[in-house]
Amino acid sequence: MLLEGKKALVTGSSRGIGRATALAFAREGADLVIHYRRQQADAERVADEVRALGREAHVFKAELESADDVNALFDHIGDIWGSLDIFMANAAASAFKPLLEIQPHHIDRTYQLLVANFILSAQRVVPLMEGRTGRIITLTGHGVHYTLPRYGNIASAKAAVETLTRYWAAELGPRQITVNAIAPGVIGTESEQFYMGDKLEQFDQACIEATPLRRVGRADEVADVAVFLASALSRFVTGQVLTVDGGLTLTSGPFQQVFGQ
Ligand SMILES: NC(=O)c1ccc[n+]([C@@H]2O[C@H](COP(=O)([O-])OP(=O)(O)OC[C@H]3O[C@@H](n4cnc5c(N)ncnc54)[C@H](OP(=O)(O)O)[C@@H]3O)[C@@H](O)[C@H]2O)c1
Repeated sequence: MLLEGKKALVTGSSRGIGRATALAFAREGADLVIHYRRQQADAERVADEVRALGREAHVFKAELESADDVNALFDHIGDIWGSLDIFMANAAASAFKPLLEIQPHHIDRTYQLLVANFILSAQRVVPLMEGRTGRIITLTGHGVHYTLPRYGNIASAKAAVETLTRYWAAELGPRQITVNAIAPGVIGTESEQFYMGDKLEQFDQACIEATPLRRVGRADEVADVAVFLASALSRFVTGQVLTVDGGLTLTSGPFQQVFGQ
């Protein structure tokens, strides 16, 4: 097993990519803190699945837009384990609107959750990783380098997370902590459904046609890359962004539409 005896926190692990990653880490031998914001029953179910795999699971609720809750989460980890090997900053949410309709509270909430929280969390993680080969993993996305409709607010925050990934990697390298990001393409989760609304089916079909691997991705396919980044297999990799998109970003819409692949 690749993560035997490791202690891991995955934020937003009640569903989607976070849930898949928590389960993949547990299958590789890690104990988990399952974090959620609203869906306690979902989080408890994931914890039960982790326990069924023979690993330890703790469930913790935290509103990660609040610095007090972020601190409470890491205080809790200090109390139960006193250390941490793997931290995956996965939780995200945003209003999907054109930039012209974005209000100050949308900016504040998204930047608090994604940017401020990542800085605060990593500050709290470092002492817990003291003397261990720590792994920090963040999630960025397609929208950082390509403009997606109604995605500007969250994409700009993700761009900051990507930059922070490199800065944290440089700062934490001497402590033997690696910091890397995963950039998923289109992955079939609840957030994709929320973002696409009644256009989901039409959008998925267009993605399938534009993706060299000819399908939408699954949460477990992102989770497998997270296992690589969390394990010793990636020990000399830091400050990098790994794209997991079936090749979607390799193609250019109009050319493929007219000439095929
Ligand atoms: N799905 C994709 O196609 C895709 C593409 C690119 C990047 N990503 C990135 O991958 C990550 C996971 O995506 P996903 O699709 O799995 O997301 P998801 O299904 O929407 O799950 C989001 C998770 O974050 C938690 N969360 C949201 N707001 C929170 C807050 N304010 N405080 C604490 N927890 C909060 C949610 O908890 P509750 O359920 O309890 O509210 C949930 O567990 C995100 O960073 C996302 O931006 C996804």
